[in-house]
Amino acid sequence: MRIIAVVNRKGGSGKTTTAVSLAAALAERGMRTLLIDLDPQASASLWLAEPARHKRLEDTFIGSREPESIARPTDVPGLEIMASSNWLLTAEQSMKGNLGVAVMRALQRLKYNWAFVIIDCPPSLSYLSVGALMGSREVIIPAEAHAIALPGVRAVVAEMRRLQSSLNPSLFDPMIVACRVNRTIHSRQVVAQLGTIYGELLAQATIRDSIRLPEAADAHEPITRYAPESGASLDYRLLAEELLARGYLHEMEPRRETRWWHIFHRTAQIDPTERRAI
Ligand SMILES: Nc1ncnc2c1ncn2[C@@H]1O[C@H](COP(=O)(O)OP(=O)(O)OP(=O)(O)O)[C@@H](O)[C@H]1O
Ligand SMILES: [Mg+2]
Repeated sequence: MRIIAVVNRKGGSGKTTTAVSLAAALAERGMRTLLIDLDPQASASLWLAEPARHKRLEDTFIGSREPESIARPTDVPGLEIMASSNWLLTAEQSMKGNLGVAVMRALQRLKYNWAFVIIDCPPSLSYLSVGALMGSREVIIPAEAHAIALPGVRAVVAEMRRLQSSLNPSLFDPMIVACRVNRTIHSRQVVAQLGTIYGELLAQATIRDSIRLPEAADAHEPITRYAPESGASLDYRLLAEELLARGYLHEMEPRRETRWWHIFHRTAQIDPTERRAI
């Protein structure tokens, strides 16, 4: 099972669009996929599922339910979703670092029901995002093909490096995906710049700017169903193929755990009084 966090601390960089579209493209390709919406804004949940169908995400984080029991089917065969919850907002303020640990543990407790688990993270390197990064082995950083996006990508890559050398040495190098690429010279220059700076970390697949993507969100369908023949749909299918081709990484490296990892695990416990307070 490959667990992939989709992160970028910059808002509106294409995280939700990438998480939903990639998850749908993988499911279409026959890979059972779980999409976890860790963003209190709940954009991925609203895109794919009706709120009435949601179950309580918090139960898995305080340990009273097995994570897989709250996964709900979507209208896409092979794609399930764990929807976001308002509770995440309160929990982030009251549990702080313990919420990160709870997220990590819930990810570790996931049974191997899926080939892929894609996590849509909030637009910050908050406890939720760090928890996702602790429980994942792979990271996708969607970056808008605009110069203003470059400092944000640099910051997230630096944060990855810190985590790789401390809390999660099993984290593979991130995959940067250029999103909203259009035909302007500026857009092409930014993609070229990303390639020069990050080399192989930049995915070969790029995602074009397409009105079909916001339309698909509005229609509560992934792009692969809403406009299966569109360019944006093709782009996300190519990204899915690239990800599958990178599967060889997993055969090479078993999961590693450092001394830091063990210390973090032993000391960070969720205080039962904190559970009651939420
Ligand atoms: N390739 C694209 N072409 C056109 N519009 C896009 C594309 N990717 C994303 N968008 C639009 O840009 C906006 C922001 O995208 P999205 O919600 O995926 O970003 P985000 O990083 O998840 O945002 P947030 O940080 O608020 O969670 C949305 O309106 C979305 O429809
Ligand atoms: Mg989002």
